[in-house]
Amino acid sequence: MKDFDPATSFGSDAAAHYDEYKRGDEEDAAAFLAEYAKEGSALEFAIGTGRIALPLATKGIQVDGIELSPHMVKQLHAKPEGQNINVIIGDMSSATTNRHYPLVYLVFNTIFNLLTADNQIRCFENAARHLTPNGHFIVETALPHAWISPDKSDYVHTEYVGKEMVVLDVARYDPATQLLEENHVQFTAQGITMSPIVCRLITPGEMDLMARIAGMRLIQRFSNWQRSAFDINSKAHVSIYGF
Ligand SMILES: C[S@@+](CC[C@H](N)C(=O)[O-])C[C@H]1O[C@@H](n2cnc3c(N)ncnc32)[C@H](O)[C@@H]1O
Repeated sequence: MKDFDPATSFGSDAAAHYDEYKRGDEEDAAAFLAEYAKEGSALEFAIGTGRIALPLATKGIQVDGIELSPHMVKQLHAKPEGQNINVIIGDMSSATTNRHYPLVYLVFNTIFNLLTADNQIRCFENAARHLTPNGHFIVETALPHAWISPDKSDYVHTEYVGKEMVVLDVARYDPATQLLEENHVQFTAQGITMSPIVCRLITPGEMDLMARIAGMRLIQRFSNWQRSAFDINSKAHVSIYGF
């Protein structure tokens, strides 16, 4: 997508409205992750407004974050319970908190927000650098084929139809680059708003290879936070990596 800059895709407007549409998996994700943060601390890559970090922190876990968007972090720190969360503003493929954790995690398809294979590998390497020797890197993301089918490289999906507003998701996938270019287009009587995003879709197998390059290996994979088996019907996965 010409002129698309990942650093600005979660700007002040997107950040201000981010918490209005909760995904609904927050408590299940926090319960799952808490089991891997037994020594009491965790690092979230792309922590956002603290959607997962805050319910995890209520379980007694000290959660730190790395996040590219200062606007998302401003929303997190505006919440009373978010003020104790330390966040480094930076890229999760390179920024460091200079600490080690039993758990580093990256959720909500955000591994796809890194737009080259090199940067996705660097993200695995950066996770490995932040782990204690027995620590785990947990990644939760969709399966590419759940978003895009081989015979359909572009689509328009109706996200919301209301009396005052319609939201369409307009997308095109390039299998050569593995880039999915999307724009969430919102129509209201006041005008049209565009929210562009580009994702690089990777399969679980590619992620396992990236983990191996980073010196880790796949330990376990589930379909969701409820630990359903990962199988032919899975649309997403929760993958646990370690040394
Ligand atoms: C879909 S939101 C997820 C936020 C949060 N993890 C959650 O589950 O609600 C994606 C987040 O990733 C951040 N992000 C995108 N690319 C990043 C990068 N390279 N390094 C750090 N954060 C990044 C965005 O700014 C945004 O806050």
